[in-house]
Amino acid sequence: MVLDHEILIVGAGLAGLRAAVEASETADVAVVSKVLPTRSHSGAAQGGITAALGNEEEDQWEWHFFDTVKGGDYLGDQDVIEIMVKDAPRAIYELEHMGVPFSRTRDGRIAQRNFGGHTKGYGREPVKRACYVADHTGRVVLDTLYDQAIGRHVRFYGECYVLSLVFDDGRCCGVVTYDLATGGLHFLRAKVVLLATGGCGKIYRTTSNGFSTTGEILNLTFKEGIPLQDMEFIQFHPTGLFPLGILVSEAARGEGGILRNDAGEPFMERYAPSIKDLAARDVVSRAILTEVRAGRGIGGKGYVHLDLTHLGERKITEKLWEITSFARIYLGLDAVSQPIPVAPTCHYLMGGIPTDGDGRVRADQTARTVPGLYAAGECACVSIHGANRLGCNSLLDLLVFGRRSGKAMKDEVAGVKTLLTGRDPTKPVRERLAALTDREGPEKAHAIRLEMQIVMTDYGSVFRTEGALRQGIDAILALKERFSRVMVTNRGTSFNYDLMETVELGHQLDLCEVILVSALNRRESRGAHFREDLPQRDDQNYLRHTLAFCATGGPRIAYKPVVLGRFQPAVRAY
Ligand code: FUM
Repeated sequence: MVLDHEILIVGAGLAGLRAAVEASETADVAVVSKVLPTRSHSGAAQGGITAALGNEEEDQWEWHFFDTVKGGDYLGDQDVIEIMVKDAPRAIYELEHMGVPFSRTRDGRIAQRNFGGHTKGYGREPVKRACYVADHTGRVVLDTLYDQAIGRHVRFYGECYVLSLVFDDGRCCGVVTYDLATGGLHFLRAKVVLLATGGCGKIYRTTSNGFSTTGEILNLTFKEGIPLQDMEFIQFHPTGLFPLGILVSEAARGEGGILRNDAGEPFMERYAPSIKDLAARDVVSRAILTEVRAGRGIGGKGYVHLDLTHLGERKITEKLWEITSFARIYLGLDAVSQPIPVAPTCHYLMGGIPTDGDGRVRADQTARTVPGLYAAGECACVSIHGANRLGCNSLLDLLVFGRRSGKAMKDEVAGVKTLLTGRDPTKPVRERLAALTDREGPEKAHAIRLEMQIVMTDYGSVFRTEGALRQGIDAILALKERFSRVMVTNRGTSFNYDLMETVELGHQLDLCEVILVSALNRRESRGAHFREDLPQRDDQNYLRHTLAFCATGGPRIAYKPVVLGRFQPAVRAY
């Protein structure tokens, strides 16, 4: 079946929905999502959205700008960071007008809380900058934007996997989708396509990411010759509920929670003397694992404690209800009287599909863009977050650049006439699926996936070395070889997750190689990329973005300059 829309958005999280709301003012917009739209992973965002509103204490957009640049270890592009932090207050008030029920101060203004790396006076002390809805901010914003999109007659195709991007004479003109309910393949044809599909956290063993966060769209673009930028920068959130990895929001430390080791010591004082538990995430994650490696984890094990017991029942119930309910449900713990076990968990991809400030996908190191193709949100790399994202800058990124992409797309489609005709783009996809389902082989996708996650965790997570990265690459190549003999056992056409998860796994293995090769080639430590064999930042040689291109024999690595501006690289201490 061929289905026509002017604008097609892949992904129904906050970036996709914000773009849809904007673009549908004048254009016909459809959103395709592999999950039901309100199951998108943005709904798991807990802590808040940053904006220098100054509702609780003095704040300035310039301080937010500085914190974002420093938090990203000077790898973020300052032209686009400036756009984002200046636009932040407008983005918040717009959500308020759409109906988001933000938590309030006593005098009725939008309440704000502390988050890691957000400071006043250029690093002087923590500042309350995150606007929030208790600890389920993402859930509420997702539902609100979905309502808005429905009200604007955006068409949704839920539970449809994108299996191919379609190009006509170099212009993206749609996608081929697999309908999970029926097994049918459809060509969704459009004048422009926005990719807004989130990250790829599921390549790691422990992650805060939902089951759908598998990253196949990143690899689909990569295979089309579009580079992937800064893929070595993977954020590990310091406080995943141990051992599951479910997010325990940084809001818990923002509200006064303290990390303690086996001796009960508030150890962050030794690693970040000025802002302690509210240092940037890469700093806190390394501190926790350093404690664990030194045998100071709880009972000598692989976790530390997050202590909320001094906050009191009222504050915990009002502001941290969701995370404390996770501790109760999964571990049987009452956070009011007992500390919560936590350890770093894979949380966020700083890299992704390179774009300009209006979401247009960049084709290479130059300003050249790919006609008809946009990206926004976690799958995109604008680059705002540089080498390490600050807490609550993610939802802001989704809202600001989702809206800007929506605006750019609706302006563009007015002048676009052509749509692909004369060939059936579902045919090669059908053949690829048939080759996979017809194959008899000894390998099982679930076993390869588990090994992939262990390899990435062991060789490519918080601490890295050249030797470990090389071992990781060899192990991933061996898994790719085994994947060529994988067998799909479910031959059905309805809700065949076995087939779709096998397709996802093929893409994930390619992405793992891109991440490890990018990390191997960055011979320095910066933000979330920490090389124990090269512990210093090297601005002389690596103050530049990595671009990985698809090539025979493995990813080809190139570089492009960082856009500097008001803030020159300086020592990054907290
Ligand atoms: O800790 C958190 O609530 C996470 C927020 C974020 O990743 O921005």
